[in-house]
Amino acid sequence: MNWVGTAARRILPELFVLAAGACMLNAQSNASLNIMPLPAKVALGDGSLKIDASFRIAFTGYREARLDRAGVRLERQIQRQTGIVMLRASKSAGVVTLEANTEHESKAIQELGEDESYSLDVTPTGAKLHAGNPLGTLRGLQTFLQLIAITPEGFSVPALHIEDRPRFPWRGLMIDSGRHFIPLDVVKRNLDGMEAVKMNVFHWHLSENQGFRAESRKFPKLHEQGSDGLFYTQEEIRDVVEYARDRGIRVVPEFDMPGHSTAWFAGYPELASGSGPYVIERQWGVFDPAMDPTDEKTYKFLNEFITEMARLFTDQFFHIGGDEVNGKEWDANPKIQAFMKSHRIKNNAELQAYFSGRVQDLVTKHKKTPIGWDEVLVPGVPKTIVIQSWRGVDSLAAAAKDGYRGILSNGYYLDLGWSAVRHYAMDPLGGPAAALSPEQKRLILGGESCIWSEYVNAENIDSRIWPRNAAIAERLWSSEGTNDVASMYARMETEATRLEWLGLTHRSFQRATLQRMAGSWTPAEFDALRALAQSLEHEKDYSREASAVSPPTSLTPLNRLVDAVYPESVVSRSFSLLVDQFVASGCKDAAVAAQIRLELEVWASIEDRLQPLAERSHLVKEAAPASAALSQAAKIAMDALDGIQKGALLAADQGKIRLDSLNALEQQAHKSQLTIPELPAFQKLVEAASNSSVCTAPK
Ligand code: ACM
Repeated sequence: MNWVGTAARRILPELFVLAAGACMLNAQSNASLNIMPLPAKVALGDGSLKIDASFRIAFTGYREARLDRAGVRLERQIQRQTGIVMLRASKSAGVVTLEANTEHESKAIQELGEDESYSLDVTPTGAKLHAGNPLGTLRGLQTFLQLIAITPEGFSVPALHIEDRPRFPWRGLMIDSGRHFIPLDVVKRNLDGMEAVKMNVFHWHLSENQGFRAESRKFPKLHEQGSDGLFYTQEEIRDVVEYARDRGIRVVPEFDMPGHSTAWFAGYPELASGSGPYVIERQWGVFDPAMDPTDEKTYKFLNEFITEMARLFTDQFFHIGGDEVNGKEWDANPKIQAFMKSHRIKNNAELQAYFSGRVQDLVTKHKKTPIGWDEVLVPGVPKTIVIQSWRGVDSLAAAAKDGYRGILSNGYYLDLGWSAVRHYAMDPLGGPAAALSPEQKRLILGGESCIWSEYVNAENIDSRIWPRNAAIAERLWSSEGTNDVASMYARMETEATRLEWLGLTHRSFQRATLQRMAGSWTPAEFDALRALAQSLEHEKDYSREASAVSPPTSLTPLNRLVDAVYPESVVSRSFSLLVDQFVASGCKDAAVAAQIRLELEVWASIEDRLQPLAERSHLVKEAAPASAALSQAAKIAMDALDGIQKGALLAADQGKIRLDSLNALEQQAHKSQLTIPELPAFQKLVEAASNSSVCTAPK
């Protein structure tokens, strides 16, 4: 889809014509501006810059090894995207295709709020990128990469002028390595993805009830007894911090305390408020173990631990968690109760505030800035702490009103399986924050998407993050008025492809997972399984625990259809658009009806086509209720389409029976923890077939 032209005029905040003779690219143009996140200003020029084997990048102005490495990565990525072979050695004296000019260095340790702006000029004879410091250069290189498009004449970048800068200084992704260990290479490829969409904070959730994932030399039993041997060595952590810095990304570690901390106690039960013994938790949920806030030994330990980690993680910010403490161990411990009485601490919230204040002091002592989940926002907490709002948007605005800095994560939980557009609608300065004063608004630093890993492992994590994370990245980088949903989806799909060229596996993992499910198969059987997987989505929000046959644990295999489907089905989205188009035509557009029918026929036959596989594979059989539900629902929709096209309206009671059946089939899919995202479109067809006013002639 080429959005340049009418769509671009609507969505680009400051689209302007470059120079005499320059023109807007139109829908017929071969070049399409698939930039995500959208830049602040774009002006389209005339013609395009050819990208071929002679491509050469040269860095001018301020130089450093990080920029040279970025140049090597850029060339490698162009080769992957185009398939063109580029021999570096033979090009050192050739004509420069892209000059990247940087004025001066950036901070040795990347800081919040550093300049990331850049400008990019492309003409048919060459491109020039200009930035104040290497961070801006890195951002501009990603834009250049995204501009490379295939045309009938070869690969090229359209002539244009871009001026760009981020809307928010904190644009993060949190990965939970605690519940399921996420291997180093997987972390790194997600950093590559973050760089591609200009995110700049990797929040690394490193300790959980189910695992303590960072090597501590001072307290080795933390990782030795708290991780099943699955942890990052200090060498590996340093490597990740460097790798991230190379990509203009800060690494903020999180060690969650005083709750979510069972794995600490496997090796050091003396830190806990209960009597133990403690073992790594295998189930999901909120658990009783919590650190003892009343024992000075806890703070001595944490002081030494934070000393060690503050050196390893060089970023200014240090996340101390603070979420979901149920207080049961505190209630049951007479010594803690006596302490509360003697210190006039009235309840567990106040006790947690006391703990939180002590830990913040330790973090501050190391000249670091603490950040915590919104539970840490209690009266009197020092103003230095940054509040990460996850339980709702209210805490973000409330924090800003009280003078605290904050970031938004509520609405950006990728593990909940929301659509990209639902995430896209969440704005750190939306909701109650919209009413803040300009000064208060400046305290809202941005946001972070989060992937919690109950149902996420090395195999499927990319698919749970990408491509939807690109929509969140755009919300955090692009101007407030960037809201065209159709354009967002079109560009996100293009970015999804490009991210696979970077090494992410959000699409390709599915084939391997489905092949494992199928065992041996014929092409027709496998096509049916793949069509099923691509048409369904996993249940949303926190329903997966509730619908589980037995309590899921960290040892439960993630090898079922629910683990292989994409969180947002592309197939379903385009089908829904087709049905909308059909209804908007007054149900007259025969070509669109034919496309709808084709899809419905595929779904209607899936149940039968999958039968042989279901007999041979327990994993396919487990998904049989969902496959039957999809097929039967598609048949109901097909009947409705037949009725519409024959002009035979359904009686109102018949329409209702069919709508009830569709709802029952959705419930049936839930038996496999799946959902049928096409259902609203099926319902729309049934409604059109039973209500003469739906299929009226287009206005
Ligand atoms: C959280 O989701 N418990 C921060």
